Amino acid sequence: MANIERIGVSLDEKLLAGFDKMIAAKGYENRSEAIRDLIRTQLHSEKLEHPDTEAVAAVLLAYDHHVTNLNKKLNELQHSQLLKTISSLHVHLDEHNCLEVILLRGKVGEINKMAEKLISLKGVRLGHINLIGTHEHQSAGQ
Ligand code: NI
Repeated sequence: MANIERIGVSLDEKLLAGFDKMIAAKGYENRSEAIRDLIRTQLHSEKLEHPDTEAVAAVLLAYDHHVTNLNKKLNELQHSQLLKTISSLHVHLDEHNCLEVILLRGKVGEINKMAEKLISLKGVRLGHINLIGTHEHQSAGQ
């Protein structure tokens, strides 16, 4: 385990009260753990802004399966970049709508490019990308 250093932070009362309220609602047992998580989250999102960062992503697509060829196009896009597709899950939401969750692995820039292609397909009503960096332990610390 890395050496622990103690730091002091000066905050005005109102800001601290807001922080305490937020961490209590989230279930944190103490401020230190909450501050560590905030720092990790911030460092992580900074890393994800670099296109070369290695990551995994869940791409969620809600779409109408009646739209011509959409299933086929989704399939083709995933097969054409097979190395980056880890897995996918299909759920029939109702008579018309489907949900597809596609797990991708690769560099952030490439993941975003493919995810945008998927989301922009005709018939896709909503799309969302969720990214997690895969080498956190090397730079963000625990
Ligand atoms: Ni379906």
